Amino acid sequence: MHLPRTLAVIIAWLCLMTALHADTAPLNVLARPGLNLNGKWAMIIDPYENGYYDYRHQPYDATEPATGGYFLDRKPANKSELIEYDFDTAPTLTVPGDWNSQAERLLYYEGSVWYRRKFDYTPSAADHRLFLYFGAVNYRADVYLNGKKLGTHIGGFTPFAFEVTGQVQPAGNSLVVRVDDTRRVEAVPTVNTDWWNYGGLTRDVLLVETPAVFIRDYQVQLKPGSSNTIQAIVRLDRAGPAASAAVAPAAPAPVAVRVSLPDLGLSASGQTDADGVARFELPAPNLALWSPASPRRHTVELSTPGDRISEKIGFRTIAVRGADILLNGESVFLRGICLHEENPLRGGRATTEADARLLLGWARELGCNFVRLAHYPHNEYMARVADELGLMLWEEVPVYWTIQWENPDTLTNAQAQLTELIIRDRNRASVIIWSVANETPVSEPRTRFLKTLVDTARSLDPTRLVSAAMEVHTDPADSNHKIVDDPFGQYTDLLSFNQYIGWYDGLPDKLPKVRWTLAYEKPVVISEFGADALQGLHGDKLTRFSEEYQADLYAQTLAMLQKIPQWRGATPWILCDFRSPRRPLANVQDGWNRKGLIGENGTRKQAFNILREYYESRRFTAVSP
Ligand code: GCU
Repeated sequence: MHLPRTLAVIIAWLCLMTALHADTAPLNVLARPGLNLNGKWAMIIDPYENGYYDYRHQPYDATEPATGGYFLDRKPANKSELIEYDFDTAPTLTVPGDWNSQAERLLYYEGSVWYRRKFDYTPSAADHRLFLYFGAVNYRADVYLNGKKLGTHIGGFTPFAFEVTGQVQPAGNSLVVRVDDTRRVEAVPTVNTDWWNYGGLTRDVLLVETPAVFIRDYQVQLKPGSSNTIQAIVRLDRAGPAASAAVAPAAPAPVAVRVSLPDLGLSASGQTDADGVARFELPAPNLALWSPASPRRHTVELSTPGDRISEKIGFRTIAVRGADILLNGESVFLRGICLHEENPLRGGRATTEADARLLLGWARELGCNFVRLAHYPHNEYMARVADELGLMLWEEVPVYWTIQWENPDTLTNAQAQLTELIIRDRNRASVIIWSVANETPVSEPRTRFLKTLVDTARSLDPTRLVSAAMEVHTDPADSNHKIVDDPFGQYTDLLSFNQYIGWYDGLPDKLPKVRWTLAYEKPVVISEFGADALQGLHGDKLTRFSEEYQADLYAQTLAMLQKIPQWRGATPWILCDFRSPRRPLANVQDGWNRKGLIGENGTRKQAFNILREYYESRRFTAVSP
């Protein structure tokens, strides 16, 4: 059958795309040898996608060999050859990092940017495998090595990798990535958000070397329901590039696996099953549990005859019972704050361990034992530093506002982002809550979509709580009567919701009059409340955007919340001012959402002390006084 050329090209491209989807990233890559590819990358801004499509708008990478495309990273063979791009003479961007905060002309840019990095590499072992690892790329990444397409990843906040074993030459490798951060209605998040759409290679890029058969993934946590038995599930990866492409091999021979916790004098040996998985249970009678007051972590070593990897892991239990949240069996009050993944002093994405220490250090100064990482997965340093500092975390996927609830591709995308997040962070004691949404309008398709995500989370990790920022509505007969009966609340462990009484709903003097009707007898966590204040702007308590207005709203909100018998925590919106294109008010917002307790210059506002003093008073009382 003779297909028209265009249709044949489209079919070929679709097959290629399907075959070239990125892999889930191997775990704990920073513990492995390889090459750190962070630093200066050449860049070409490409708003017309000229480096990706030919002039008939056909993707250059849909045909082999490609007849063009910036990913070929070509140079003229002679003085007469026409090539209209050159990475060697192009400007550069720093990786990791968003492009918006690196150049004035890119601050509001949305579209495609091409990145190119040259590198040399010789593997340290003969019998090895190589992976190109990306901590995250916002939003779509098309990745090419030495002119060949490795694949595509969709989703701006989770890690992914491509196996490149046998494709890396000792010198002169060309790694090219097209990053497209165009917002799309079918995407996750969709087109409307209240944060800056920072595009780029926003997190670490590494060439990771592993043994031929290696420990790809593991989950080492307390056995569900136990506080003195450690459960370890260790997954090996033995399929090299040839094997993974071949027909499934016969059941592989078992591989010996050993788990040890040397500072506890614990160890166990076992072997993998037909799926390459080894499972262990280690009695740990004297296990010092992790908590904010005592963030104890223990060295965990995993080994096979050909591989060894280790890291520090904390062990704790988290559960709900009636209206209580139980940490290690004790009722706890979550003294929280919300955070965007942004360093306000730089006005760009937070990407490094130093950024994580800055932001989480501020949260500790505020008196927090809990942080909501809004509204998308933050970089991996955040959970690792939170483990060390003793901060509990709420982690979230960007199922935000008006997602396309009935689009199956959108659901698959959201599930993939949730899966990549959970696999990355499910060994982090700090993470206690997976959140599947924020402020999504109630409808049957939306609740079905979110329930699917809850099922995905619980299947990947039955040990943590699942929630979302749910909807509140007002009694039509009484504007002071607030009702929380979101149908999605039947599926979550917490009843968490955002409320902005006194900012978007009346003035702060409304707060003392408010009464609540809650449809579920579950622990209540107020996932957002707050008000804008320009740091340094002063007036009386009714002057919008003054520090005094914000401080009064905090004081009155905290007093109001104490009337809710099952109130067990809050993450006020938000620790720091953050960039948002929705906030243009000149000389007050100037493209920033000003609800931070800390201004963009790092200066604390009056409300910071209001909340800090309240948290100090709650430090030792778990439930509402
Ligand atoms: C919403 C939303 C936030 C937003 C905030 C605000 O609750 O969840 O992402 O920034 O309100 O309006 O400032």
